[in-house]
Amino acid sequence: MSKDKVNIGLIGFGTIGAGVVEIFNKNQKLISDKTGKNVVLKKVADLDITTDRGVKISEKILTEDVNEILDDPEIDIVIELIGGYEPAKTFILRALKTKKHIVSTNKALISKEWNELISTAKENGVRLNFEASVGGGIPVIQTINEQLSSNKFSSIYGVLNGTANYILSEISENGTDFKSVLKEAQKKGYAELDPTFDIEGNDTAHKIIILSKIAFGKYVSSDDFLIEGISNIDPMDIEFANSDLGCSVKLLGIAKDLNGRLELRVHPTFVPKNHILCSANGVFNGIYLEGDFIGPIFLYGQGAGRMATASAVVGDCVDIILNPSKPINYGPETSQVNELVEANEIFSKYYVRLMIKPKDGVIKEIFKILNKYNIDIDTSIQNSCSEDLVPVFLITNMVKEIDVNNALLDIKGLDSVKEEPVLFRILN
Ligand code: HSE
Repeated sequence: MSKDKVNIGLIGFGTIGAGVVEIFNKNQKLISDKTGKNVVLKKVADLDITTDRGVKISEKILTEDVNEILDDPEIDIVIELIGGYEPAKTFILRALKTKKHIVSTNKALISKEWNELISTAKENGVRLNFEASVGGGIPVIQTINEQLSSNKFSSIYGVLNGTANYILSEISENGTDFKSVLKEAQKKGYAELDPTFDIEGNDTAHKIIILSKIAFGKYVSSDDFLIEGISNIDPMDIEFANSDLGCSVKLLGIAKDLNGRLELRVHPTFVPKNHILCSANGVFNGIYLEGDFIGPIFLYGQGAGRMATASAVVGDCVDIILNPSKPINYGPETSQVNELVEANEIFSKYYVRLMIKPKDGVIKEIFKILNKYNIDIDTSIQNSCSEDLVPVFLITNMVKEIDVNNALLDIKGLDSVKEEPVLFRILN
């Protein structure tokens, strides 16, 4: 990096890429003043350089050839915004090996290839920043990794996917149907190219893997923990959570240190409305964590979308320009947790909905089974409508997931129980 000038190459001129260009158009002087250097967006590479992105950009800096960035010795920082595994991984590794710093939003890649990417950056003495990979514009990674580094963390609860949160909020507040609200989220630039990762919980899983590595020191693969999404949620359950239980349904990423064992999971959760996590609605994300000295802390902001995410990307560039030789050290060197807690061991309150054909004695049979597995019911509400199938809502006390699963297996075997039982965990 020269004394006076920093050149940036941007790979991926999509939603966030256009946001980065807009920030440079508007605030280049601010960025240069802050860093004391002339910070220049030297090249922008994309396979499509003709579609109008709604931002002013000089044709001279646009290229279809990524090598014009990767092979340019004058480019100091490469921003990777193409997402996905390949060719993003190849581009990042090539850049790192030629001593270029990297800024990336690529949570799928970073959470999967953590060890190789971090070690390549370290070996080459360059920075790898990925603040925007979790929580969009919220400064969560640097906050946990640096500002809060005197703490040992006990838990992280995160509303980490803007698309899923937007969908759940719209269904709950306006009764909008799933498909049209997903389309809306895509139009607004919140969703991934393939939104499956948003709605099936994978994107939240990538983000909680990154946070848990930084907070607890342990890297976990997404193959090794429970991931459930929101695509099969029935509006009836959202309605019941809202009106009868005073809860909102949130897709949460959860990481907890349970006496040296790591509990990691992603699933839709009933969250009491007075919990601060419920203030994160729409595209907003919220990360609630607890450290031994800071106590509880809540980080909140826009978790997806063009300008909020671009803000974090440019923030990462400024951090690198100010501290190009800061050692890469994400999370404690020694993990504070060892093994993983199995999904069956989760200890929680549960909401269960059964669809039954009303018949004398069926409720008694259900309670007999619950009793066999030592499951007490806090509340049981049977809908009194006289339709063919009647929903029965049950709220358990704190029980182990394996007991609930076994009880539901037995309950499913009853003649009068139709359809698959529905289960949600309730945040305590
Ligand atoms: N698709 C992601 C989301 C983008 O909706 O949260 C931000 O990571």
